[in-house]
Amino acid sequence: MAQQPTFKTVFFFLDTDKYCSPFDILVAIDAFPDSLLFKYENVTGEDAPKIVYDLLFPRGPAGAAHTKIFINGSNFEEVEKVVAATQKAMATAPWGNSIIVDPRGGYSTAAAAVAKTFGASMEKGMGSLEGKKVTVLAGTGPVGQTAARIYAAEKADVTITSRSLAKGQVIADKINAECGAQRVKVVEVAKPEQTAVAVKDAEIILAAGAGGIQLLTAADIAAATKCKIIGDINAIKPLGVEGLGPNDDNKELKPGVFGIGALAIGKLKIKTEVEMIKRAVAEPQGLFDYAIAYTIAKDQILKKLAKAAAK
Ligand SMILES: NC(=O)c1ccc[n+]([C@@H]2O[C@H](COP(=O)([O-])OP(=O)(O)OC[C@H]3O[C@@H](n4cnc5c(N)ncnc54)[C@H](OP(=O)(O)O)[C@@H]3O)[C@@H](O)[C@H]2O)c1
Repeated sequence: MAQQPTFKTVFFFLDTDKYCSPFDILVAIDAFPDSLLFKYENVTGEDAPKIVYDLLFPRGPAGAAHTKIFINGSNFEEVEKVVAATQKAMATAPWGNSIIVDPRGGYSTAAAAVAKTFGASMEKGMGSLEGKKVTVLAGTGPVGQTAARIYAAEKADVTITSRSLAKGQVIADKINAECGAQRVKVVEVAKPEQTAVAVKDAEIILAAGAGGIQLLTAADIAAATKCKIIGDINAIKPLGVEGLGPNDDNKELKPGVFGIGALAIGKLKIKTEVEMIKRAVAEPQGLFDYAIAYTIAKDQILKKLAKAAAK
């Protein structure tokens, strides 16, 4: 009897950038040291189907179950085009592959950041995110807009800021259309002194700006009288929030106001990304994107809350 072939796990990275990020390659290889990994760069939505068909067929359905696609890149719109083109190509094929999507860590980071603020909200007796007033500062980058999208899915009342009202509005409109409700609005913060207006009513603030940009000063925190939880995802100095260190995890910044720093969020981000990859490897096909990332991150937090409650 012919012996059944055994298949190695193979990852194909499709990156929209000139250089594929080593970050996610290392995360994947550490999670599966015996796997093989190949990278394609400068990938566009137009290129994706050809690559997808050529990796889909040679190993047949049994081998395709061990062939994984990781879509990455800092151009969020192009990444979305590559994902759509990949899914469309697979829909016309007799079988498919698992697709992991985490553009420059945006999905796993946003999932971890939202889950950490959810955990703090539960721990501090504020309850779930539903109906909470949340401000995502610089909510237009991959991380910020994904965080806004997840908060909106949790039925929070979300404000995003941007230096450009028009840029922020495009994102707010997209998320509102997706959730079929007006859950996200925009406040323009073209100058730092406009931040106070954007955080005036916020119960939760997430600073989601580019590395090395301080978005929230101590004076802004003092002015945000309803705020109880502040998260920051910028680990590059100057950090995003004055007085909030990268390793702070529910540190009391002023009486009743708790801060979560970028590396505390980063720890959950890595766990989340590793688990996303593991789930994608365990399943023969499916889409593993921000929604799965948030389920994973939130489950970690719920387990931690349950453990603390059982003590
Ligand atoms: N903690 C972690 O585990 C982790 C993981 C991945 C990434 N990160 C960090 O997450 C942060 C966000 O990543 P990203 O890729 O989403 O960021 P990004 O696209 O580089 O920037 C996010 C937003 O910051 C705003 N911004 C840029 N320059 C600014 C300036 N000079 N002043 C004020 N606002 C400015 C822009 O908004 P507007 O143009 O709309 O104003 C931009 O859309 C970065 O700091 C990154 O290092 C953290």
